Amino acid sequence: MRICLIGCGYVGSVTGVCLADLGHEIMIVDTDASKVAQLNSGKTPIYEPELEELLQKNHKRISATTDTHTAVLNSDITFICVGTPSNPDGSINLDFVLSASHDVGKALRDKSGFHLVIVKSTVLPGTTAGPVKDVLEQASGKKAFVDFGLASNPEFLREGSAVGDFLKPDRIIIGVADLRSKQVLEELYADFTCPKLFSTIPVAEMIKYVSNAFLATKISFANEIGNICKKQGIDTEEVFKGVGMDHRINPAFFRSGIGFGGSCFPKDVRALIARAQELGMDPKILRSVTEVNEEQPLKLITLLEKHVPDPRGKKIGVLGLAFKPDTDDIRDSRAIPIVEKLLQKGATVLAYDPMAMGNFKKIFPTVNYASSAKDILAADAVLIATEWRDFEELDYSGKIVIDGRRVENARKGSVYEGVCW
Ligand SMILES: NC(=O)c1ccc[n+]([C@@H]2O[C@H](COP(=O)([O-])OP(=O)(O)OC[C@H]3O[C@@H](n4cnc5c(N)ncnc54)[C@H](O)[C@@H]3O)[C@@H](O)[C@H]2O)c1
Repeated sequence: MRICLIGCGYVGSVTGVCLADLGHEIMIVDTDASKVAQLNSGKTPIYEPELEELLQKNHKRISATTDTHTAVLNSDITFICVGTPSNPDGSINLDFVLSASHDVGKALRDKSGFHLVIVKSTVLPGTTAGPVKDVLEQASGKKAFVDFGLASNPEFLREGSAVGDFLKPDRIIIGVADLRSKQVLEELYADFTCPKLFSTIPVAEMIKYVSNAFLATKISFANEIGNICKKQGIDTEEVFKGVGMDHRINPAFFRSGIGFGGSCFPKDVRALIARAQELGMDPKILRSVTEVNEEQPLKLITLLEKHVPDPRGKKIGVLGLAFKPDTDDIRDSRAIPIVEKLLQKGATVLAYDPMAMGNFKKIFPTVNYASSAKDILAADAVLIATEWRDFEELDYSGKIVIDGRRVENARKGSVYEGVCW
């Protein structure tokens, strides 16, 4: 098929490159001309393992442009993959989705034949068949589900393992309201052997939020239990190993640490809270999930102060700035509140991350950045905020180490404290 993707961030780039690898003709659109130029020169605008190699392997089938109109006219289906960030009150900001929908709608006005528009961005129930449909219809002068198709196909990839997650997903969720759209999506995903769930559009939209809210809840629960374990001198990691052996519970995403970050869990939980509040409800569990997650990274500072009572003027090393290993994404990274607090306390921060320093520098330009993980060990104390594999290889002997992510080798520090162990 000829597939257009609007937005070449984590979701658009991965979806486009993987679909090209499956033999489809791909056109990726972004308003950011520098990202478009990068893609066209064989470089991915984001860091994601395996992605650049796959882009180069399939470069003949992938082109990028800033021109939505031409891309839609020359394709059979369009995925909307633009960002849906939080508004200051936690509700979802649809500006990018609606502006992309407007551009797609304008192109549909000039297009004959059936075209399917699929919302892959994470949007609350009612968005695709509500404001997105309205904008598409207004701009195109055509009727959704009749003149053009419209569907929801939320994305579940995880940054750091996105290529594998896209090509071998646990399941594919597709929300449809018309037969033609369903048939196109059945054909597109025909070679995927995982379960495929077809539902209404609002159900598909809600499945995405509930999946993320549940995983976020699992993490905050693990952290609350971890804090209780730590006070009793119990190793929370061993506790969760035992608990996760119950097949009803499952060990995945069931570890204590300094909380979840990234572009999805925090904002999606906030958006679900805001939606519940709009409906006159008080989502107590979801509010607690967020509250625990906000407090958890600061536990590293409390533990640091046990061993370095006044961090003022001390050089404190921070290992890991990305919200998780194998990505350069720092959105809502737990390293952000940690660095903020250290600076507030007058510490000199020396930070290192194998991939995310460029992005971190944009919000913390005055922090000192080390050129290697090893250089961080020269600091008066080291805080571990992301568990990059390389951090297992360091020689921590003689160091004060406060570990938020369970890097086993760091136990060799002369002082070692784990956040929940
Ligand atoms: N990042 C993830 O791991 C992940 C996983 C699953 C779902 N999602 C969801 O997918 C969506 C996209 O997330 P992301 O992390 O890829 O976002 P991103 O911020 O990395 O990328 C979005 C891209 O869209 C571009 N853009 C914005 N408006 C545009 C327009 N009108 N036309 C063309 N391009 C436009 C931006 O320049 C940017 O490059 C969000 O709703 C997110 O919640 C993300």
